[in-house]
Amino acid sequence: MNTRTLKVDKGVDNDDGYQQSVDCLRNGGLVAFPTETVYGLGALATDQDATKRIFEVKGRPSDNPLIVHIGTKEEVSTYAAEIPESALRLMDAFWPGPLTLVFNEKPGIIAENVTVGRGTVGLRMPDHPVALRLLRLLGGPLAAPSANRSGKPSPTKASHVARDLDGRIPFILDGGATGVGVESTVIDMTSTPPAILRPGGVTVEMIEAVIGPVRSEMRAEEAEAPRAPGMKYMHYSPDAPVWLIGPDLIQIEQAVRTLTDKGLKVAVIGPDELKTDKPSWYFATGAYADPRQLATHLYDALRKCDETEADVILAVEAPAQGMGVAVMNRLKKAADGKRFFD
Ligand code: TXA
Ligand code: MG
Repeated sequence: MNTRTLKVDKGVDNDDGYQQSVDCLRNGGLVAFPTETVYGLGALATDQDATKRIFEVKGRPSDNPLIVHIGTKEEVSTYAAEIPESALRLMDAFWPGPLTLVFNEKPGIIAENVTVGRGTVGLRMPDHPVALRLLRLLGGPLAAPSANRSGKPSPTKASHVARDLDGRIPFILDGGATGVGVESTVIDMTSTPPAILRPGGVTVEMIEAVIGPVRSEMRAEEAEAPRAPGMKYMHYSPDAPVWLIGPDLIQIEQAVRTLTDKGLKVAVIGPDELKTDKPSWYFATGAYADPRQLATHLYDALRKCDETEADVILAVEAPAQGMGVAVMNRLKKAADGKRFFD
């Protein structure tokens, strides 16, 4: 299959690209498209054969449900069996935006392999002009996981999608780099209080300011909180092994020396302030004090490591609040929990 990348930049006449994408989706095909978080790999969520192809193309385990993207808030009542009052408040505060709400589903509408028969459905209205225009032209729901091969870092640029999926999908809508950089927050609205299943683009602090206390896996005393099924898989991994390290220049340089002395080439992913020329490569992801910047640049930096000859990657830990929580969640997975100094 030939993969065509269609640019949908502002100021260009893009109608043809959108029409081709919509036709493709209506015929059961897959289209990669940008959202404000990461690029998604979309299929019509009501078409069981189309959504099956998502799992094949990504190499994704079939027990991990897909998020369903919608173009308007009104569509929630088409797919959700009931909408709790707190969910309405979250939708008002954060939609369109990087928040996925898990509802009890109305049976028989969304394809069964999307919800993997759990009786719930994760819905989100993305905050990106390309995604919204595609959804509105399509006039239907799009099941869309991140548009990467399973296990690889999520794509934040069209070129990342092409690298993983070239030849496997017909269309990539190229809307430039995404902004948020990590995936949406997933919150289960079927439990009381609601439970954060995956930290992401909307922080716990932001959510609690709107609906009060929620359960979140980040708090030790609530470690038994249910998780999104996807959380158990190894994720976001570049080719070389990743080790976490504290935000401390002396430690970083010491670790680099230890590894270099063993004949290993080292890449470091870290904040601007700690940039050092001791490792062979240093990928700076923004100001340490602003974890939003770290989130925006994280996946690109992980992917850039794959373009080097690094044998080992050291990733500097992010602050433990705000967006730092989502960044640390992804970094821990990339490192499989390993810290260099433990
Ligand atoms: O930002 C995002 O959420 C991106 C963009 C493309 O929208 N999408 C994304 O999808 O990250 P994916 O498939 O890579 O991650 C979906 C996560 C998984 O952890 C999955 O287990 C969880 O959401 N999820 C989806 N539906 C669920 C459900 N019904 N119940 C519990 N967890 C669900
Ligand atoms: Mg993903």
